[in-house]
Amino acid sequence: MPTRRRFLARLGGSAAAAGAMTVVPTKWSTAVAAARDLSRTPGSPEEIARDEEFWIEIQKAFTTDRSLVNLNNGGVSPTPAHVLEAMKRDLDFANQIPVYNGWQILEPQREGVRARLARQWDVDPEEVAITRNASEGLQILQNGYDLERGDEVVTTTQDYGRMITTFQQRERREGIVMKQFKIPVPAEDPAEIVRLFEEQITDRTRLILMCHMINITGQILPVREVVEMARGYDIPVLVDGAHSLAHHDFTLSELNCDNYAVSLHKWLHAPVGTGLLYVRREKIPEIWPLQAAAESRDDDIRKFEAIGTHPEANFLAIGEALTFHQLVGGERKEARLVHLRNYWAEQLLEHDRVRLNTSLKPGFACGIANVQVEGIDTSALRNWLWNQHRIFTVAINHAEFTGLRISPSTYTTLEELDRFVDAMTRAVKHGIPAS
Ligand SMILES: Cc1ncc(COP(=O)(O)O)c(C=O)c1O
Repeated sequence: MPTRRRFLARLGGSAAAAGAMTVVPTKWSTAVAAARDLSRTPGSPEEIARDEEFWIEIQKAFTTDRSLVNLNNGGVSPTPAHVLEAMKRDLDFANQIPVYNGWQILEPQREGVRARLARQWDVDPEEVAITRNASEGLQILQNGYDLERGDEVVTTTQDYGRMITTFQQRERREGIVMKQFKIPVPAEDPAEIVRLFEEQITDRTRLILMCHMINITGQILPVREVVEMARGYDIPVLVDGAHSLAHHDFTLSELNCDNYAVSLHKWLHAPVGTGLLYVRREKIPEIWPLQAAAESRDDDIRKFEAIGTHPEANFLAIGEALTFHQLVGGERKEARLVHLRNYWAEQLLEHDRVRLNTSLKPGFACGIANVQVEGIDTSALRNWLWNQHRIFTVAINHAEFTGLRISPSTYTTLEELDRFVDAMTRAVKHGIPAS
């Protein structure tokens, strides 16, 4: 584990340019060319994860504001400059004559993006819908099954607020019953998670909703095993993958799930307003789309994309973001995000009053973690970090735990994490002023 001192020592000599940490935005062609060279950099993912020369090239692709430290990339990610350029180019092109350039030229190109996303995550293109975000994909699933009064849906107390709201609306509107249960924080026993889901099942259970990665702690849950268990009861599991795809490295085929909804503007770094919904081919006819589609499309994944007139440019720019992801490399990205998390977490854990609400064991979390300083109010700490230090974090005050949600990204520098560690250390040692 590199210490801060070792990192600073690296800033001498040839790394001086990196040391200045003034990250200059590059033109898209430069960024991609640099990344292409990087894709051939030899070394294991763990070795590359610690190679600052490699990551400086990735940092340069983003025009992020380096006067502040953004540790909320789980919320929504900035997109690399060249990806944004591609989107703007298509917006301009469509605007020349939207009815032709937009509808007839750009919209059909979505098929190429669909094919590439499917290929990357090893599923059939006819199982991939391009959506505007995970909320849309999940609500298609949550509202898309017919349920009767008294039917039960099961989820945890840590699932995402909007998804809970979606089921609560069905409770008010149709009289379904949502059952929520607690899972340990952190959860390091996959078999226990499967058992906890199974314990909730009754003869009225119709759907299960679960996160692949819980947003407030970064906890990764055993999707494959829960899906397998639920299949035995013929219960569909709706998988909230908002944070997982392009964050940690896996394929949809290996999860063997029947559906999966993602926001691509989080960890793929695609422009805001992009998502993916996977639905296993034979399950497509079971699910109603959120906006009505013709009966002839009942078994066509594109029925989920029938949203009326919309910009195509952000959807096509997913292709640029995907290319960037491939050049960085999924395994290397995962290793880097783990490295960044460990870099700050292990330094803070040296203090007795710091506790993590996230497992550091391999496979149970990746770049997102939740940290609590005992004796300091989480919201006050969040506000102090922002107001005094320009460090952006998220205060999580959950009924079962409290802590800051910390989510660096591929473009985060070690110097930025040093600023965070320094500020937190000051808070632990000296407290923070009452707000
Ligand atoms: C676990 C989880 N599910 C779903 C969503 C919804 O994502 P979006 O707002 O991009 O639709 C989020 C957003 O942060 C999330 O964390």
